[in-house]
Amino acid sequence: MTEAQAKKRIEDLSRQLEEHNYKYYVLSKPSVSDYDFDMLLEELIKLEKEYPQLASPDSPTQRVGGQITKEFKSVKHKYPMMSLGNTYNEEELKDFDERVRKVIGNDFEYVCELKFDGVAIGLMYKHGKLMQAVTRGDGVKGDDVTANVRTIRSIPLNLKEGDYPEEFEIRGEIFMPLKSFEKINKDIAKQMTEDGYDEEEITDKLLKNPRNAASGTLKMQDSSVVAKRNLDCYFYFVYGENLGFKTHYDVLKKAKQWGFKISEHAVKCKNIAGVFDYIKEWNTERHHLPFDTDGVVIKVNSLAQQHELGFTAKSPRWAISYKFKAESVSTKLLSISYQVGRTGAITPVANLKPVLLAGTTVKRASLHNADQIEKLDIRVGDTVFVEKGGEIIPKITAVDLSKRERNSKPVEYISRCPVCNTKLERKEEEANHYCPNELGCPPQIRGKIEHFISRKAMDIDSLGEGKVEMLYDNGLIKTPADLYKLKYDDMIGLKSPPAPQRGVAPPPPKGGNTSKLKLDQRDGVLASPSFGGVGEAVGRGASSLQEKSVQKILAGIENSKEIPFERVLYAIGIRYVGETVARKLALYFKNMDALMNASLEELVNVQEIGERIAESVLDFFKDNRNKKIVEDLRKAGLKMEMDASSVLKKLSRKLEGLSFVVSGTFSNFSRDEIKEVIEQHGGKNQSGVSAKTNYLLAGDEPGPSKVEKAKKLNVAILEEKEFVKMIEK
Ligand code: IVH
Repeated sequence: MTEAQAKKRIEDLSRQLEEHNYKYYVLSKPSVSDYDFDMLLEELIKLEKEYPQLASPDSPTQRVGGQITKEFKSVKHKYPMMSLGNTYNEEELKDFDERVRKVIGNDFEYVCELKFDGVAIGLMYKHGKLMQAVTRGDGVKGDDVTANVRTIRSIPLNLKEGDYPEEFEIRGEIFMPLKSFEKINKDIAKQMTEDGYDEEEITDKLLKNPRNAASGTLKMQDSSVVAKRNLDCYFYFVYGENLGFKTHYDVLKKAKQWGFKISEHAVKCKNIAGVFDYIKEWNTERHHLPFDTDGVVIKVNSLAQQHELGFTAKSPRWAISYKFKAESVSTKLLSISYQVGRTGAITPVANLKPVLLAGTTVKRASLHNADQIEKLDIRVGDTVFVEKGGEIIPKITAVDLSKRERNSKPVEYISRCPVCNTKLERKEEEANHYCPNELGCPPQIRGKIEHFISRKAMDIDSLGEGKVEMLYDNGLIKTPADLYKLKYDDMIGLKSPPAPQRGVAPPPPKGGNTSKLKLDQRDGVLASPSFGGVGEAVGRGASSLQEKSVQKILAGIENSKEIPFERVLYAIGIRYVGETVARKLALYFKNMDALMNASLEELVNVQEIGERIAESVLDFFKDNRNKKIVEDLRKAGLKMEMDASSVLKKLSRKLEGLSFVVSGTFSNFSRDEIKEVIEQHGGKNQSGVSAKTNYLLAGDEPGPSKVEKAKKLNVAILEEKEFVKMIEK
């Protein structure tokens, strides 16, 4: 292929891919299968790799990101980013309408739009190409977030053929769709649960609401992470010189033709009564939208009349927002349950008389901890106010004291574990009570075993949560090591015992059972099974174990003996020893015995291991019961040392004096792993390509700017295979 042919093909592929993107993300009408899309994209990536001089910043390959922004450049807005005046009730809105009519009379229309709850953005287009994306900032100056915005697939990098002005700015709202928000939180919760964090710590790390999530994501340094977060954007305003439009509604229609995503819920209203109808409709309908809205924006439609009305110092006189009330309902607190997590953390849960709130039925709300109950002086039988202010979990905001029953009593917080009856502990400065019976409390034991078999640990996928529960309930497994003693005859035909005979749980304390905190619809995060808790056995009532299942379980357990040491170390569930920490410890200490005998000083010597982790490791091995489990696992044949054939083990000085920049994805390593290998062999990692770089280690889809720079500076580009050869020689 000649360069001219390549250029033509690149243009052709880019056009096709952008059109498919547009149909999928803007119109929500997919026009091609994922597979066909990927094939086209792959071809384009390959061509751009071959001809980097032909790769443009508008290429659809840029949608996957890769550019790192260390510091966002501050940019002055050409047109200041104003805000809108807010109204909260009909009266205030009527006042607005009167002010408008005083200036322009009665002959006019309004346009009502949804107020998207996200982050305002201004996009500059020149000759139909996206040039720059700037956040609101203080309204005068904002941050240049162009690299990140380019990854948002519904934002056109090139406008559709048409009559767009040579230069203009379009304003819109970047938001995170609810589905993406929920998925990200679910993933965070799952990962942290597997890494041994408790619910409080996890809740703390979760994205708080879709708006925060959108604004946080937009400010991330690595645009490839932004690309994975599925941000979206609706547009609602165009600035430019001599645009020639008569009405705001026409502007929206035109912007849509240029390829922008415009909400189909913008409507013209003849008068303020029409506006009220719109508000009334969306006050309830908004709960069925796939994104958050916090109100309605009302704009005078005619641009000439807008001009006549003008601006105050802060906001236009021709537009206003109406904010929906954070929905609050009152309901009765029926009881308080106490949930025991995998780490022993106790979470009190309010069981409410079911009530409809923001489109979902709420039956439970987290009460967080004892302090929270005391602070709100919540009592069983109280009528409480429940609110969902864009947060993930419904909150109890207050008690309706006027409805308090005369003989009500303050909540007596439990002092013993609701499952194993062990006296609870509360460490200084910690909000939660804990059940310290780590190795004897059923939800904690089951949680440990579930972690042990999980995909990133021993990967025994023939044993799910339900089967672990069944085996545990039948007294067959009490520790992860017991899995390796299971026999065919023990398991065949096994059933869960009927609920009342289960386990060692004492009768639940008064005022509560121990059911899982299952929140509703949008609260899917906490309904995740990985949050432990007891009561609702997944396997309960399931049919008995049949031959095939038993054989699969035994095979899965047998195969797990091949799992490398670093994952065994992760699997045994030392608190704070997640996947990465386990790998670091395994690399450093090489075997279990060395780790078990390590002192605090030695442990903190390991790169990135702090005192909190070190102490947790020491505590774990101080307990003879843990030592016994490790010994049993060793006897069962699990790997207790680094594999001699592992590439990670072959430490050498082969890369000494060499600097690497790692970019793209690799088939045999994660990016962190490959960086680690470089260091293990004496090499250095750099974040950006410079004259001092020796190699750009490029996996699949490396950052095009890195490739370009490497070529410019004559830095050798190395493929994964070549790299492995370098260290294997
Ligand atoms: S029009 C001159 N329309 O709300 C101001 N704004 O409080 C033009 N917003 O800064 C703004 N949805 O970030 C407009 N349909 C919509 C909107 C909207 C959300 C945001 C925007 C604005 C803020 C005003």
